[in-house]
Amino acid sequence: MTPLPNILMLNGPNLNMLGQREEAHYGADTLQAIQDELVAAFPQLRLEMHQSNHEGDLIDQLHNWAYYSAIVINAGAYSHYSYAIQDALRLVRVPVVEVHLSNIYARETFRHTSVISPVVRGVISGFGKDSYRLALYWLSSQLSQQPAAQRGKETEGA
Ligand code: DQA
Repeated sequence: MTPLPNILMLNGPNLNMLGQREEAHYGADTLQAIQDELVAAFPQLRLEMHQSNHEGDLIDQLHNWAYYSAIVINAGAYSHYSYAIQDALRLVRVPVVEVHLSNIYARETFRHTSVISPVVRGVISGFGKDSYRLALYWLSSQLSQQPAAQRGKETEGA
């Protein structure tokens, strides 16, 4: 049987506090509740969840990119200034989708720039927890068009 494509769902600082953060921006659900919904909604994918408040942990996870068919990353505030995460993403050779729950362009000026956007395949921002769902929807359709042997070998736009 062909193994399910496995996707690293990487969440950065303060996202473990969803449910207690500004509801107008981030909704009322906890990260666990969001992840449970995603697992139920995408039985065709194997989702590996990882959250860390530490930049180096997130970088270590990205260095393991070869174990995954794709990566979804919400780097939280690191998105706006972490060149170390940007450099780690430059190594990744599977598709990466950057997500944000809130619309970062409709908020404070410092959030308008994401230093990781130039090195990912695409960005989804502003759809609350559905941002993750939209990312997985796209990845799911991409990965189902690709034979298992090809996954992880993509070199462009990853
Ligand atoms: C966020 C937006 C960031 O500006 C913020 O620092 C976060 C969450 C989002 O999902 O909307 O922690 O990435």
